[in-house]
Amino acid sequence: MINIAIDGPSGAGKSSAAKLAAARLGYVYVDTGALYRAIGVAALRRGLTTTDKEQVLPILPELDIQLTFIDGEQHVILNGEDVSKEIRLPEASMAASDVSAMAEVREYLLDLQHKIAAENNCFMDGRDIGTVILPHAQLKIFLTASAEIRARRRYDELIGRGTPVEYETVLQDIIQRDYNDSHREVAPLKPAEDSVILDSSYLTLEEVVAKVVELVEAIPEEKK
Ligand code: DC
Repeated sequence: MINIAIDGPSGAGKSSAAKLAAARLGYVYVDTGALYRAIGVAALRRGLTTTDKEQVLPILPELDIQLTFIDGEQHVILNGEDVSKEIRLPEASMAASDVSAMAEVREYLLDLQHKIAAENNCFMDGRDIGTVILPHAQLKIFLTASAEIRARRRYDELIGRGTPVEYETVLQDIIQRDYNDSHREVAPLKPAEDSVILDSSYLTLEEVVAKVVELVEAIPEEKK
């Protein structure tokens, strides 16, 4: 199978670009952040402090997390319930960032990610796909953009979905999550040595997609 790792900070446009590139190439798009978000939501629903390992880890055996693809759209099923909408709420973002810093949570999600990659030509979007999950991916892309531009995009997206938010809150949230994600001990956010770094700050979505498709098409035959 051909596996493309696409890592980078929140709001760099990984999901929009990878989703379109995947559709164009006939690949599956896998959003691994959704898995951490599902665990975050499960912890929030139980009223737990999401930074506290002693509260979060004991719930892992109670969770069954599945990814299903309906009309090419990924859905996250938590213990039989589709939580795809709930995991997008801002509080779920921070909870996901908190639980994703726990080594045991990352370990818990490893098999599921490996299984999906082994069964599909896919774009796998995350933070540690190229460095930890799929170190042998045929192509690794690190997609980034400035915090202000990412906050503006996330703000527009949330407002567009009817979620009332303030720009300044979104920016602070992004800065905090960047810090958490890149300073944690386990699998911190960083480009793999053999990744292609793509800065989307001044590129349109279509330009990013075109570049990504071009990189996939340039994968040498012997690597496929
Ligand atoms: O991509 P996202 O915003 O949905 O991710 C939510 C959180 O999950 C983010 O703060 C970092 C974490 N995450 C991670 O640690 N590793 C991944 N492969 C994907 C997401």
